Amino acid sequence: MRQDDRVNDREAAFDRSDDTVLAPAPDPAAMRRQYQTEGLVRSQLAGTPVEQFGRWFRDATENPAVFEPNAMVVSTADAEGRPSSRTVLLKHFDDHGFVFYTNYGSRKGRELTENPHVSLLFPWYPLARQVIVTGVAARTGRDETAAYFRTRPHGSQLGAWASEQSTVIGSREELDQAFADLDARYPADEQVPVPPHWGGFRVTPRSVEFWQGRTNRLHDRLRYVSRPGGGWRIERLSP
Ligand SMILES: Cc1cc2nc3c(=O)[nH]c(=O)nc-3n(C[C@H](O)[C@H](O)[C@H](O)COP(=O)(O)O)c2cc1C
Repeated sequence: MRQDDRVNDREAAFDRSDDTVLAPAPDPAAMRRQYQTEGLVRSQLAGTPVEQFGRWFRDATENPAVFEPNAMVVSTADAEGRPSSRTVLLKHFDDHGFVFYTNYGSRKGRELTENPHVSLLFPWYPLARQVIVTGVAARTGRDETAAYFRTRPHGSQLGAWASEQSTVIGSREELDQAFADLDARYPADEQVPVPPHWGGFRVTPRSVEFWQGRTNRLHDRLRYVSRPGGGWRIERLSP
């Protein structure tokens, strides 16, 4: 048997085993859920979007089907308007905004420095709910960042130093070695300094939409929009 034939035979066997072992991927067009949930009415909404967010956030945390209720999709865009999205964890929210922590040199960090406009999306599918925040991001103060950094487990503190987030690296080993070096330098009982390239972003909301899935795709969408002089206007959007 020629070498080429053997290679071709192997490839053919590989193709066949793929056909027989792998079930076809599910067809997303055939997936359909009816949302049997109570509606969202304007008269029941809280006076501020942050207060309303707090109510829904409590519902999400109390539902065991929502795995990480504080996980949100953060979308940014560069100076030319090219968008990018990723999941991050919400770490604080109050009337001043929504706070998450990241590497300032990461793609999102660089984009937010060029263009502070941002969108946050909380996908609470088991509740047939989503919350979409749009607003403007600004770095948290160093004291606030340091106070949060101190609450992180030692390993996560080292991880913030070990990873040059969003840069291309040669191998997994490089990353593990960087972590091991830091671990040797800062044993568990030693304080890890806050990395200068790491910290928080606070998103001051300009609009916050509360989306509740309803039957027949006639969902409820109520959006708070900040008024220029202060306070909020609430509007209902067509689903
Ligand atoms: C559930 C989950 C939570 C995450 N939380 C964070 C976070 O709080 N901060 C962060 O920088 N990255 C977090 N990540 C990683 C980001 O999704 C992303 O990979 C990383 O921040 C680099 O993004 P960028 O290259 O777009 O800047 C999380 C990922 C997942 C799946």
